[in-house]
Amino acid sequence: MLNKISSVLVLLFFLTGTAYAQSIEELKKQLDEAKEMLEQQKEAIASQKATIDALEKALKELSEKIPPQVIEREAHLKASIARGKELYISKGCLECHGGEGQGGKGPLLKGITLKYGVEYLALSVTNPAISHGAKPSMPAFTELKDDEVRDILDFLATLTPGRENLERIERGKKLWNKLGCLACHGIKGEGGLTGPSLRGLTKKYNYEWIRLCVTDPVVHHGQKTMMPAFTEVPFMDVEAVIDYMNTF
Ligand code: HEC
Ligand code: HEC
Repeated sequence: MLNKISSVLVLLFFLTGTAYAQSIEELKKQLDEAKEMLEQQKEAIASQKATIDALEKALKELSEKIPPQVIEREAHLKASIARGKELYISKGCLECHGGEGQGGKGPLLKGITLKYGVEYLALSVTNPAISHGAKPSMPAFTELKDDEVRDILDFLATLTPGRENLERIERGKKLWNKLGCLACHGIKGEGGLTGPSLRGLTKKYNYEWIRLCVTDPVVHHGQKTMMPAFTEVPFMDVEAVIDYMNTF
């Protein structure tokens, strides 16, 4: 009996011993694997850090190349645009010209700074009797200070041309025919028996001058001219005709 028990104990001891030895081996293996993984991760992180350092260095070098005046000027312009936008809203420009300058009661303002110079535009805001003719529909914002006008113009410069500008060219083309410009200046401004060619005119003269040629040609061409004065044509229609003229 005792013999039997002891042999069972020996067997048990032997078995647990091998199991123990086996699990130690297993653990060692796992530990080695974990060590290897850790090394790999460390390497990956080190190489990522090197990349980050290189990028940071390149970024610093690049930003140092931009002169501080440029950064300052850009910040200044951004602030001016923001103030201009506020004025555009608070002074009620948007009620006639639309929140995005898309036009309404007043003409389209998208792309306006590409067409007119600063002087005309500043006068348009503070003294439209001079810029738009004797009886402007637009109120004069005489109270605006010079820097406020500049802020508004900076904002207007952000209103880039859009679909509305193409629509206005189409409208201008119809008006060109309807008002009879084609009879003297040709279908596409090539000139005719009575009127000169108007090709490339918008590249030569500014819009302001061309508008006066149409609405008040006596002033520009002298007392005797064959060119009729289109005094009754609404401002916005004349603008559309000139946009069409800009295509030839
Ligand atoms: C009551 C409506 C009204 C308000 C408010 C108004 N405008 Fe006008 N604006 C017009 C009309 C109409 C014209 C076309 C010329 C005219 O008849 O005076 C015009 C013309 C202009 C032009 C010239 C456009 C061109 O094609 O030559 C500019 C620039 C302009 N407005 C800017 C402004 C700004 C900036 C404000 C706000 C400070 C403003 N307008 C407020 C109605 C308005
Ligand atoms: C009856 C013929 C006639 C009609 C209609 C006419 N024009 Fe003219 N236009 C002329 C003549 C002639 C001149 C040259 C003026 C001069 O030098 O005396 C002229 C000159 C001009 C000029 C100045 C050109 C320059 O080189 O200085 C413009 C701009 C112009 N016309 C636009 C128009 C537009 C836009 C219309 C339609 C709304 C129109 N004209 C309708 C006959 C006409």
